[in-house]
Amino acid sequence: MSGKIPQSFIDDLLARVDIVDLIDARVTLKKTGANYSARCPFHSEKTPSFTVSREKQFYHCFGCGAHGTAIGFLMEHDRLGFVEAVEELAALCGLTIPRETAPAERVAPSHGLYELQLQVAGYYAEQLRRHPQRARAVDYLRQRGVSGEVAARYGLGYAPPGWDNLGERFETQALLEAGLLVEKDEGRRYDRFRDRIMFPIRDRRGRVVGFGGRVLDGSEPKYLNSPETAVFKKRREVYGLYELLKSPGKPPCILVVEGYMDVVALAQFGIPFAVAALGTAISAEHVELLFRYTSELVFCFDGDAAGHAAGWRAMEAALPHMRDGRQVRFLHVPQGHDPDTLVRAEGRDAFQERIHHATPLSDYFFKRLQSGLNLTEMEGRAGLVMRGRELLSKLPSGVFQQMMLTNLAQQGGVAQVEISAKSTTLITQAAPRQAPRRMVPSLVRRISELILRKPDLALDVDESVWAWLADSGDDECAFLQSLLEIVADNPHIQPAGLLERFRDSPHWAYAGSLSLPQDELPESLLSAGWGNEFADALQRLKEKIRRRRLDVLIAKMDGVGLTANERAEYLELTSSRSGGR
Ligand code: UTP
Ligand code: MN
Repeated sequence: MSGKIPQSFIDDLLARVDIVDLIDARVTLKKTGANYSARCPFHSEKTPSFTVSREKQFYHCFGCGAHGTAIGFLMEHDRLGFVEAVEELAALCGLTIPRETAPAERVAPSHGLYELQLQVAGYYAEQLRRHPQRARAVDYLRQRGVSGEVAARYGLGYAPPGWDNLGERFETQALLEAGLLVEKDEGRRYDRFRDRIMFPIRDRRGRVVGFGGRVLDGSEPKYLNSPETAVFKKRREVYGLYELLKSPGKPPCILVVEGYMDVVALAQFGIPFAVAALGTAISAEHVELLFRYTSELVFCFDGDAAGHAAGWRAMEAALPHMRDGRQVRFLHVPQGHDPDTLVRAEGRDAFQERIHHATPLSDYFFKRLQSGLNLTEMEGRAGLVMRGRELLSKLPSGVFQQMMLTNLAQQGGVAQVEISAKSTTLITQAAPRQAPRRMVPSLVRRISELILRKPDLALDVDESVWAWLADSGDDECAFLQSLLEIVADNPHIQPAGLLERFRDSPHWAYAGSLSLPQDELPESLLSAGWGNEFADALQRLKEKIRRRRLDVLIAKMDGVGLTANERAEYLELTSSRSGGR
């Protein structure tokens, strides 16, 4: 047997099997209150400290700490491998194990948007190989110099002509949610992507979160992109990051380019470390994300006016993240070129050379800052100092900020440029969002614990908390975020299924420790109270998030001032006291 066992099948299996019957067939269990108990099969003991919960479908030994689900029990007790244990349970329930190999013709509903989009990406890729009209698409890629190997690495595909290719093969509601089907007012529905080269957009973990699609000729619009959906947030995702992380070796830097084709062409020419924003400006979140994987970003925008504007905006997004030790540089692309045409025209070595000689942020900053100002006049120099100071106040305080300020002073012909003491201290409070979070983890931990007991509680968690978690580097937050994602995709998942999802993850031990029984009362009595406790904990967390964000905004208001968006956010936060969003 080959192919991965789908998680949804494991959820299903664990929901059907009864761990009490399973264990009772091997170790005689005695009913004690709400649970069952026995002498522990995993260590020798005289008095029973091994308990099994029918409600949670977990076992736990208070003596030796052994614990797990039905799968874990079979692995430990019968000494089976994971797959064997699953096979054994499937046989007990009379189920056959589906394998994720051949792309299914029809996808069952409720598999979640990741699953659906993975299948759709597989379908598009297959059309590039099989569709009767694939020749134009294949020729197009060939003419742009994309090899089969690179096409496969990026999972490129072909959305064939026709209005109802996906509609015939996949579940309508899920397609609508993924934005792959467009619905008109009259209720007419059709495929969003028709007769286009398809670029699946994958998140860091390789899950397909959306698509970009390019026309094969000069028609408009040149690119279509998936809309934002529950799993696709454009200001958080970049194209090509997954492929970059998968390619061997540590990248020397990450190149940030404008287009899908730039990323693919650079990879084709042996530069597999470029990523692109998704038809949006580079956001501070993008920069923060990328700095997790490298200490050097090289912005490489097209050599036209739009490219220059994009470069400046990217620099502004990067400023708050320029901690000492991080570097941002700008690669100049000659007018009329983009990275794709440039690497094609000059080849890999010349392009590498350009990367080596890319302009440091400091040079780029002053050059662009001066443009349009006449520094022989006092007015010009004053303008320089004022604009420069405002921008440099966004830098985290440190050696780099000091040097930039000194340089600004020299260029402006003033003795010194200082960021007022008030705004510097306020900004240093505002920028790193890690430090003041310390007290929250226990709350986050408790929320995770309750979700592991009663997964559907996760469905009450709203966008403000999701966003906050996504932003955090903390392990406990990352774990809670995974819990929320899993339950959102599988709203009927049971505690044992949820725990099993973490078997191969770095969170496995932590997840296990949160699933341990803690209370002597029957689960059914306790679980009635969990809803309230959960609502309360969630409310407290939201209030903390709201207050932190307000602190940041207020600090900024006193310092450098708020942007229009931030002002709107401030008003919303101050008006919706308990709403949390
Ligand atoms: P460009 O117009 O620079 O295209 O758009 P490109 O990447 O050089 O494309 P090729 O080489 O002609 O194939 C850059 C990016 O802007 C977004 C896409 O993400 C594209 O990769 N874009 C562009 C759109 O979303 N829609 C469009 O119509 C055009
Ligand atoms: Mn191009």
